[in-house]
Amino acid sequence: GRSNELRGKKVLINAGPTQEAIDPVRYITNHSSGKMGIALAEAAYQKGAEVELVLGPTHLRPKFKGINVKTIISADEMLIQMLELFDSSDIVIGAAAVADYKPDEIKSEKFKKKAKDWNLKLVKNPDILGVLGSKKTHQKVIGFALETQDEEINALTKLKAKNLDAIVLNSLKISGAGFSTDTNHVIMFFENGIKKEFPLNLKTQIANQIFDSILELY
Ligand code: C5P
Repeated sequence: GRSNELRGKKVLINAGPTQEAIDPVRYITNHSSGKMGIALAEAAYQKGAEVELVLGPTHLRPKFKGINVKTIISADEMLIQMLELFDSSDIVIGAAAVADYKPDEIKSEKFKKKAKDWNLKLVKNPDILGVLGSKKTHQKVIGFALETQDEEINALTKLKAKNLDAIVLNSLKISGAGFSTDTNHVIMFFENGIKKEFPLNLKTQIANQIFDSILELY
């Protein structure tokens, strides 16, 4: 059954990749499976929260029917959904691997291959969590960071820049941690300077540990 720890709390999570269309048949995306964000949504639901999950293109779905899933394709669509749900949320977690760039235009017809090279122009996507962090009032806002170098410094820089309450650092260097695996190893940095390491474990267990730590903020 569900517990009471998060009863009365509204939890908003985004997860999965985004897809940025080039033309009707092509797009840009990344390797995110959405597993960590879905595990977080399930953990929050099991702790009694009301959960909204804004999910990018992945075939995975949360196992509980009570979780409200809003599927989106692009970063722009994800931002719109997150903004719509933000004000009424208490805890917001950005676990999505938002594409950093999108094509400067979406061609309405399939781009025909030619003899010469194709120069595709990319423009920056909105920083969804940055936008939400800057609008923060009563919410606790938690982000993720995936770094391959200067991990801790970069994670702390993002924590500050996006006005977050905590950031969860995923290390690609640790085997069993990362994209499509069922396991993860993370370090969580809090705005108040506290640091907690959760060693290699199932993403479902890591999700519970993350929420237990968020609850300590109350
Ligand atoms: O800036 P960086 O991509 O490294 O930060 C990662 C965190 O920011 C993640 O929580 C991710 O969901 C979020 N993010 C976002 N919008 C972007 C890029 C990242 O919300 N365009």
